[in-house]
Amino acid sequence: METRSVGDIEQGQGEAQTGQAASPPAEPPAQPPTQPRTRPPATPNRGAVRPEPDPAGATARGSAEAGEEGMRSAAPRATMSRQDVYVRPMRAGKPISTGPMARMATWLKYTLSSELQRREWDVDEQLAHVPPMTRPNTVAVISPKGGVGKTTISFVLGNLLASELRMRVVALDANPDFGTLASLAPDDFRSQRSLADLLADSTHLDSPAELHPYVARLPTGLHLLGAPAHAEVMAQMSPGLYSRLLDFLERFYEVVILDLGTGITDPLAQFAVDRADQTVVITTPEWVTAAGVLGALRYLQLEQGTLVLNQAPVGRQAGNREVIEANFRRHAVETSATIPYDDRLRVMLDTGTYSLSDLKLSTRVPVKELGAAIAFNFV
Ligand SMILES: Nc1ncnc2c1ncn2[C@@H]1O[C@H](COP(=O)(O)OP(=O)(O)OP(=O)(O)O)[C@@H](O)[C@H]1O
Ligand SMILES: [Mg+2]
Repeated sequence: METRSVGDIEQGQGEAQTGQAASPPAEPPAQPPTQPRTRPPATPNRGAVRPEPDPAGATARGSAEAGEEGMRSAAPRATMSRQDVYVRPMRAGKPISTGPMARMATWLKYTLSSELQRREWDVDEQLAHVPPMTRPNTVAVISPKGGVGKTTISFVLGNLLASELRMRVVALDANPDFGTLASLAPDDFRSQRSLADLLADSTHLDSPAELHPYVARLPTGLHLLGAPAHAEVMAQMSPGLYSRLLDFLERFYEVVILDLGTGITDPLAQFAVDRADQTVVITTPEWVTAAGVLGALRYLQLEQGTLVLNQAPVGRQAGNREVIEANFRRHAVETSATIPYDDRLRVMLDTGTYSLSDLKLSTRVPVKELGAAIAFNFV
């Protein structure tokens, strides 16, 4: 494996350029939304009296200087819009019925569906209407506790933003203690290079394609940037070097997710939270863990936080989550999501076979709700 020292990284580092990636439009959800999607406003030509060619105007402008421009104005314009050909709104290649019977059928289907299914339709509808971002956004995923799911949440969140919202997303392993993020990639997708290699070479890299050897590019579109394999190289990754790395990554990605370690008072965690546009705080819902995580938050200046109660036990033995959420809200952790403990998720992650659509509905829905909460906080 190729590794670099900080000497290599520092060498030749110039001023990081800044740039901005454009947001592609969100795709409509695959599942039926709660109501038939309203059709987009008709084009100005639709239903209006079409302008006739104006020979008089053309003649008036027919002077030598009007020349070619005048002749173009005189020609009849093609005014056939797509809505002229497909008069009814369409979804998946079929006309959408909007009559009373169709509305009744939609209402019945919605009402008779399970609560989880309705939540999925609702969140799909929300995801289809995420406002465009105005600049690249950084998300820090933190917890003072080990093993609670920082890497898992970084990974599933990144996959969701890439696959459902078509955002250009990179998740990077900022855990100084042998992070596991890059290992979640399927074997054939892994990169042998690390974030230290990318930083060392960054002054020579100008196009997105030149980043490919450094990242694992997953089928969902998510890119993973791994930590150096050698602890001494990782130990040299100071906040200053992370800052340069983030400046560089923001030229190519719309969203950068930082999967951090447990040291909340470390300069790196402090830097990450300061630098991030929003922070995702992970805990399990047990009082012992949640109280510890809550206590650690006083060392951080959070501005926009989302709480994830991960590995939540399913069933009645669970404690009172509303009380936990209310306490976190006092620390600017306004929104929250509860992700259940899910053996299938654990095995998917461990075998490099994670797929959102193959998750159980009871896990998929909260994962999407978490993604929507984060996406609506983007600036
Ligand atoms: N909701 C869940 N259901 C089942 N297993 C989970 C869930 N979330 C995480 N896990 C599993 O828990 C283990 C620890 O998760 P993860 O590595 O994401 O934690 P972490 O907070 O990043 O740990 P570390 O502090 O070591 O970086 C992994 O085996 C992961 O697959
Ligand atoms: Mg981790």
